[in-house]
Amino acid sequence: MWGRWKPFWPRFGNLRDKDLGHIPVLRREVVELLCVHPGGCYIDCTLGGGGHTRAICERGGRVVGIDIDPYTIPRARESLKGCSEVIALINDSFTNLESIVQALDLPRVDGILFDLGVSSLQLEDEQRGFSFKLDAPLDMRFNPQQKLKAEKILNTSSKDELYAILKQYGEEDRAGKIAHLIRESRPLSTTFDLVRVIQRAGKKRGRIHPATKVFQAIRIAVNQELENLELGLAEAEGILSPGGRLAVISYHSLEDRIAKNFLRTSLSLKPITPKPIRPNRTEVEENPRSRSAKLRVAERSAENPLPPSSPPQGFSPPLKI
Ligand SMILES: C[S@@+](CC[C@H](N)C(=O)[O-])C[C@H]1O[C@@H](n2cnc3c(N)ncnc32)[C@H](O)[C@@H]1O
Repeated sequence: MWGRWKPFWPRFGNLRDKDLGHIPVLRREVVELLCVHPGGCYIDCTLGGGGHTRAICERGGRVVGIDIDPYTIPRARESLKGCSEVIALINDSFTNLESIVQALDLPRVDGILFDLGVSSLQLEDEQRGFSFKLDAPLDMRFNPQQKLKAEKILNTSSKDELYAILKQYGEEDRAGKIAHLIRESRPLSTTFDLVRVIQRAGKKRGRIHPATKVFQAIRIAVNQELENLELGLAEAEGILSPGGRLAVISYHSLEDRIAKNFLRTSLSLKPITPKPIRPNRTEVEENPRSRSAKLRVAERSAENPLPPSSPPQGFSPPLKI
């Protein structure tokens, strides 16, 4: 399996983070705003390369790391060797947070982190199809056991369905034209097939690559990212201890809107970042992928405890690798 991973060494950044293949975004801010303390119990819902998990461990926090992508687990386990604070690394979706916590019999959770989107490890993997810079099969699944791939969406959706995906999930201004060209160019089988279609739609190179929004939209649709985020946040709210903190790092306006509304409207959470925290110029220079990041944090209040939730039906323990 290790042969699958192409190492990605960014030019800058702290040496230990480079070893992870993914530089954790807003690392110091996350640890500070989660008020990580020795012996506290934290859940990293999006383990990725394990960078945030390690930062929490370094402050003495005990961590459960979860990722829906099974390929992340052995890699993170390797990079977290020696971190005795790691409670478990679990291949599951954060939409199952409650059952994961129950299976581990965790008495309380002091902090929960969602660092959304795709990791550098996934982007740089030539087989996964997440990047418009690499020619790869049109896959884009976080969970390789899932049936739906990008290829199916692109080759079988109606023009209206494609338009809705590109407009809604990518806020793509040429959604109509690109949807039309995708249908005309079928069958599409690789990421470069899709990039050629986008080029034919006449998109000019601006501040971002012309394919950015289309790839984002298809990836969100394949992985049902927005629906999962809403479910995951609701589960997180239910398992936080009073005084515990929930942190969400988003990378585009759709994710940020969901996080902002959730934290603002929740009866049991009090936002503690009136405005989202952004990476400073040094961080963006060192890690350009951090440039669109927004961190929002809220605290679970003691006053409005949620009723204890009933055990999930048909519960099966998460797969522990
Ligand atoms: C930006 S990366 C996290 C990087 C990590 N914080 C680090 O420092 O290395 C996002 C991760 O979330 C994972 N992910 C996406 N959807 C998920 C879900 N529903 N449940 C669990 N993990 C998910 C992806 O597989 C990816 O590894």
